[in-house]
Amino acid sequence: MTVQLPACGQIVAGEVGKILIREKSNQKIELGDLLIVEEKDKANTTIIQVYDLLYGSQISKLAREQIAGLSLEGLGEKLEIFEPHLRNYVLAQGKAVIRVSGSKPHVPKILPDFFGSVRHVQKQDLQFLDKPSDPIYIGQVRSGSKIIDVPVSLNGNDLFTHHVLVPSTTGRGKSNLVKVMLWSTIGENKFGILVLDAHDEYYGRAGKGLKDHPKARGNVLYYSVNPVPGTYTLTVNIKTLYPQHLEGVISLSEAQEQAVARYYSEFDDEWIENIILGTQIESVKDVTLGVLQRILRTKLSVYNQDGEVLSKNRVFSTSSGQSTIEDIVHSLEQGKLVIVDTSKVGDEAELLIGSMIANSMFNIYQNYKAEGTLDGKLPVSIVIEEAPRVLSSDRLVLGENEYSKIAREGRKFKIGLVAITQLTSVIPRDILTNINTKIILGNEMATERRAIVDSAAQDLSDDDRTIASLDRGEAIVTSIFTKFAIPIQIPLFEEYAKAYSASAHSSSPSKLQYKE
Ligand SMILES: Nc1ncnc2c1ncn2[C@@H]1O[C@H](COP(=O)(O)OP(=O)(O)OP(=O)(O)O)[C@@H](O)[C@H]1O
Ligand SMILES: [Mg+2]
Repeated sequence: MTVQLPACGQIVAGEVGKILIREKSNQKIELGDLLIVEEKDKANTTIIQVYDLLYGSQISKLAREQIAGLSLEGLGEKLEIFEPHLRNYVLAQGKAVIRVSGSKPHVPKILPDFFGSVRHVQKQDLQFLDKPSDPIYIGQVRSGSKIIDVPVSLNGNDLFTHHVLVPSTTGRGKSNLVKVMLWSTIGENKFGILVLDAHDEYYGRAGKGLKDHPKARGNVLYYSVNPVPGTYTLTVNIKTLYPQHLEGVISLSEAQEQAVARYYSEFDDEWIENIILGTQIESVKDVTLGVLQRILRTKLSVYNQDGEVLSKNRVFSTSSGQSTIEDIVHSLEQGKLVIVDTSKVGDEAELLIGSMIANSMFNIYQNYKAEGTLDGKLPVSIVIEEAPRVLSSDRLVLGENEYSKIAREGRKFKIGLVAITQLTSVIPRDILTNINTKIILGNEMATERRAIVDSAAQDLSDDDRTIASLDRGEAIVTSIFTKFAIPIQIPLFEEYAKAYSASAHSSSPSKLQYKE
């Protein structure tokens, strides 16, 4: 049996949401700590989370200022405070986040015992955080900066179809977290995941990556314009690109949109080629054609060479890649992880490819729903870095795109979004509230923290300071699927992958090597 930790403090005052605890001397209470108050009958415990720390003293302010003055001016070397640990102390301010009766968690509706003794959280206090079915591991419970040996996993069906937001300032560990998250899906064939990998960091072309999962073979598919042996060439046939894929990704004026529609109705799947080659048609002015040519040339990196349409970055082709989008969609339906390396194809081309896949996924799943067969189909999710490129309010005034469509109505069709972002404040409120799980990493920007807190599933209004002080890999999970906003420590992907392989593929190796 584990020994219970000694008391680290005692409740001395407060109110709902603002419980004041006196810290026992030398028992450091940290910002973000989870503290346990047991009720007298031992049947119920309350977990308090600390969100602020302040000094307390029995000595009057004037007297303290005088003592400091004497000491600073060299007049009080011999001056000592009698029993300093009794007179000066730290007060921690916290809120009750959950009350556990037996092993059942509830939203706390009563205050914990007045003068109740408080101790740090331990593994046995968190037994109510049981492992869900189809678990997606995201990290270990964290109390302040201490890691508790309790894994945190979320049910993959809930998580992926109800969308995930991963916000933080740069370098706090967003991509690392998503790699850890996706690791659990590999080889399970329960979720189809598409990663639009703008920095080529998920597959692990050069170092450790998702390709190193023991079940990666046949389950992790990699598409790149510069493939490695055993992976796929990212070539998309221009004929499979329809005008609707451009919506909300490439901005066109009304006249340009009409011209595109005319070319499409005239030339069907050869509409882009005919625009690039400058084929003239009635009712489209030369100047509009010229502008359209320029837009498509720059956005798709295609050009006309002696009457042939060629692609600069090799991603769009007129001759090959007819089935690329179809193949990817098929793999997603089979529950595979498809990583598309878009690091060399440019912003618009990346978003267009994502848009083509999403559009096709939507059509297929909408049909399943209409047929009544959607229940038997696997959830599919799209991971997108720098999500404001498609989800910001500025973007959306130009019209909806496939990504915002998923955020708004994908859930009905089992299609989800994992949106990674440095900027949350630019994403419209209704989209943010539709994203039911947020894994919040550190953020220095007050406006960003406010936007995140305002759209969280739990009340995080007191946690502004805590979010600002989150270190790399430290996060708070707020979700309609968690009992409270759980503080977690995400493992470093490289260490996690190594520990996983060493621990005979347990999906949540609890004995990861952390610096405690
Ligand atoms: N959980 C973690 N534990 C320890 N170190 C981490 C953790 N997560 C990330 N790091 C370190 O921080 C670095 C940056 O992480 P990562 O690339 O995931 O950040 P990011 O938020 O995606 O950054 P960007 O906004 O630039 O994309 C990593 O290279 C890694 O060394
Ligand atoms: Mg990143």
